[in-house]
Amino acid sequence: MRTKDLVAIRDLHIDEVFEIFEESRRIKDYTKRGMPFKPLEGKTLGMMFSKSSTRTRVSFEVGMYQLGGYPMYLDIKKSMQMGRGETVHDTGKVLSRYLDGIMIRTFAHDDVVQLAKYSSIPVINGLTDLFHPCQILADIFTLTEKYRIIGGLTVAFVGDGNNVANSWLFGAAKTGINLNIVTPKGYECDTKLVEEAREIGKATGCTIKTFNDPIEGVKGVDVIYTDVWASMGQEDEAAKRIKEFEGYQINSKLVSHANKDYKVMHCLPAHRGEEITDEVIDDEAHSIVFDEAENRLHVQKGILYLLMGEFKA
Ligand code: CP
Ligand code: NVA
Repeated sequence: MRTKDLVAIRDLHIDEVFEIFEESRRIKDYTKRGMPFKPLEGKTLGMMFSKSSTRTRVSFEVGMYQLGGYPMYLDIKKSMQMGRGETVHDTGKVLSRYLDGIMIRTFAHDDVVQLAKYSSIPVINGLTDLFHPCQILADIFTLTEKYRIIGGLTVAFVGDGNNVANSWLFGAAKTGINLNIVTPKGYECDTKLVEEAREIGKATGCTIKTFNDPIEGVKGVDVIYTDVWASMGQEDEAAKRIKEFEGYQINSKLVSHANKDYKVMHCLPAHRGEEITDEVIDDEAHSIVFDEAENRLHVQKGILYLLMGEFKA
């Protein structure tokens, strides 16, 4: 990898996206065969969180351990001086003297940009209000396992034009997946991001379309993807959003408009009965939600190895 950090898929070269998939596949194979692979022995990853997490925390912690390194959980609000006002600048400079890498989950995307700028060690974005790159890399990796060729597939992201949708824009653009972003009026992705992704997508031949009509948006697609309607930090808007997202639920009626071999994805956690029904998420013939969750572990191991491995010195 030429980049020091993983702040956004937007920053990765197309080849780097596929390099992550290749390494992740190799490391996943070692893990499945029970072959130890510990290239990060003696290295420490600081894992800074100011939001809740199940998958990101556990998969990074287990992944770092399996690679031979040490994962250190740091609660920004409860136990770090940054939670009391120490600057991102000073935090990045100091942590670079102790650690070999940082993973951070927080609110403001710019904090991650600044942390990467002032740290001399790799910084990995574990979700901000703007992007969730590790999730979408694991999602697209999962599609590479399910389909012989991913270029030309069509994915419909149905729901809020949020951090996950924004990362899908760039994930699709860099891998040649066609993307329909299907949102209620007022919840669209930022048009600047859509335009930027369309521009990048010219190189891979993908099309990125936006819809407000859920049926039109999922018509004939290969994959239907959704996420919660109210993200972390938007809990106060949850009740209002339930009303405004009516008709955008992924249920058996909506999926009937997709390609007959459609697959369903969700980054989780799910609000069952809101954005997705039990029937759809638990339908083993179509739902690949738990394979997708497992791949967070394997793909993050690929990312950690590429960013923190010896050859990076
Ligand atoms: N998908 C995801 O990032 O899950 P967590 O919030 O549990 O980490
Ligand atoms: N959009 C969700 C994703 C959680 C993994 C959130 O930010 O809360």
